[in-house]
Amino acid sequence: MESLIGLVNRLQNACTLLGDYGSAGDSVFSSVPTLWESLPSVVVVGGQSSGKSSVLESIVGRDFLPRGSGIVTRRPLVLQLHKAEPRVEDYAEFLHLPKQRFTDFSMVRKEIQDETDKMTGTNRRISPVPIHLTIYSPNVVNLTLIDLPGLTKVAIEGQPEAIVRDIESMVRSYILKPNCIILAITPANQDIATSDAIKLSKEVDPLGERTFGVLTKLDLMDKGTNAVDILEGRAYQLRHPWVGIVNRSQADINSKVDMVAARQREHEFFATSLDYSHLAGRMGSEYLAKLLSKHLEAEIKARIPAITSLINHSIDELEREMSHIGNPIAVDAAAQLYTILELCRAFERVFKEHLDGGRPGGDR
Ligand code: GDP
Ligand code: NA
Ligand code: MG
Repeated sequence: MESLIGLVNRLQNACTLLGDYGSAGDSVFSSVPTLWESLPSVVVVGGQSSGKSSVLESIVGRDFLPRGSGIVTRRPLVLQLHKAEPRVEDYAEFLHLPKQRFTDFSMVRKEIQDETDKMTGTNRRISPVPIHLTIYSPNVVNLTLIDLPGLTKVAIEGQPEAIVRDIESMVRSYILKPNCIILAITPANQDIATSDAIKLSKEVDPLGERTFGVLTKLDLMDKGTNAVDILEGRAYQLRHPWVGIVNRSQADINSKVDMVAARQREHEFFATSLDYSHLAGRMGSEYLAKLLSKHLEAEIKARIPAITSLINHSIDELEREMSHIGNPIAVDAAAQLYTILELCRAFERVFKEHLDGGRPGGDR
């Protein structure tokens, strides 16, 4: 049996191809909520420079995200991690470049940049149209993360003033959805009360039921202070445990410290710390990835009935749409709809299998 997360990834890809990417999209589906919105997803939220990109790269174990000052992420990035068989060499694929395999991850970075510019033009605004990137590697867990533009207070470098508001409303439109799992990134060297991620997640999830707090930059705290109160859930309580992270510093990145060494250092930081060694087993990016993967799968499982009924609804809509496309000019559109219709039907079958108890011997 295919993993539930893998299935949902394919469904999410189909949605984007049909123009359904949440309220911002212009979907052929008229259902409310749309199919996209019904799919559980993990959304990365945080202020600019809070460490979002670093956390994602660390989870993947690869350098592949555009870096730089200013607002670098200007389109949502749907990052689908797919655990591959042992000995498979890591590779990446974009939904918009079917059949093109990237094994050079600096080219992945360049493609994200180019694809961002293509949609947002030279005025460096943001666009709600997501970029879908799938990474296959034996070293990742099955997990999907949506990276959004970082929250910011001021526009810079000729970016329009409105971008500050636009980013906040884009982030809000994602995290408002009850199916959204919020990964709230907060730097430890900043007062938690001023954390953009916490402020916004509190607004949409006041009880902290679907928010995972991630505390980055633990290595940058002032000497004599520590974040034990936060990490143990006393300073700001969430239903899920907080996870502390130590990413590479800018100096590490400049001197090209690789990801394996960085993970090792992160591990040692917690294991040998007087403040955190008692929490070491629940800290770090590897632990965070596993935690999120397990949680995402459980959330999908819990929502199979709701998703199945929306798929049925979508199938009806697609069939109606198909019956309108009669002329030869629209043959491409018909072929595309047909493919997606088939995909929806396949999902229905596999979901049902999972619902019927996920017989032992499945792949998870
Ligand atoms: P983003 O804007 O939220 O995506 O933040 P980045 O991941 O690009 O990080 C911003 C800067 O903070 C970079 O120079 C990183 O090297 C640095 N940084 C991020 N996390 C950590 C951390 O845990 N420790 C240290 N020392 N630096 C970090
Ligand atoms: Na963000
Ligand atoms: Mg970033």
